[in-house]
Amino acid sequence: MRRLDGEAIERELSRLGASFGRPLAVAAETSSTNDDARSAAAAGAPHGAAFLADAQTQGRGRGGRSWHSPPGENLYLSVVLRPRVPATRVAPIALVMGLAVASVVERRLAPPSRGASGGGSIVEVRLKWPNDVLAGGRKLAGILVEAQLRGESVSSVIVGVGLNVHASSFPPDLSARATSLAMLGIDGVPRELLAAELLQAIGDAAARFEAGELAPFAEDLARMDWLRGRRVEVAGVIGVAAGIDPDGHLLVRGADGVLRAVAAGEVSVISS
Ligand code: BTN
Repeated sequence: MRRLDGEAIERELSRLGASFGRPLAVAAETSSTNDDARSAAAAGAPHGAAFLADAQTQGRGRGGRSWHSPPGENLYLSVVLRPRVPATRVAPIALVMGLAVASVVERRLAPPSRGASGGGSIVEVRLKWPNDVLAGGRKLAGILVEAQLRGESVSSVIVGVGLNVHASSFPPDLSARATSLAMLGIDGVPRELLAAELLQAIGDAAARFEAGELAPFAEDLARMDWLRGRRVEVAGVIGVAAGIDPDGHLLVRGADGVLRAVAAGEVSVISS
């Protein structure tokens, strides 16, 4: 089993010309990289500081769920963002981070040279609102965004990404829903290279969000929206998912024909 190599990530970042992702801390094991990033942010860590671990003992997901984090297989990565946006406008950054992660895995799963006609997708990569990254309909990556606010401004935002890379199996409770790059036929891509690509994509997406909020992402959000057209239940609203509005809210059309915008919640898909 090969440990995650911090120096190799530094080299890949330099090769990509990425200024984001530094300082970089790579641990053999930690409780949760989100907690590491959060403590560092409270102690003054700058925008771009990154925390990775080969394994997590208490990796966590949204809604208090745990995140399967064995050693030697996957990526567990958290970064500190210091976006200059008002606290009332920061929530959609979660969606933007989902798109950033999706763009990295999409390049791996459907590079132009592998597409049927030079650009077609072999495995469909999609974003399930707000920020689950699905490939072939199964969860490939999860993102946990935690904002620290100070009055009306944002002190920091911690973005934690779990990406299943080399995993060849999952515990029984996940096996029907989860996937990995290896299970999708993409093996042999070093985690260090993927980590550098993720850091670069996250840094770029944060800069674009600061400049234009969701507007620069509107096209990608529409293209990647996995829920659109599916019958869902979210935050007590039942209906057909009908896209994402400019504030990042999920639109759901009820049986009464009324379109409702949902700001937050766990989505259950009732039927496809
Ligand atoms: C989810 O889908 O519920 C979000 C999962 C987020 C998991 C990542 S792994 C790196 C970082 N550290 C954590 O404890 N959680 C996030």
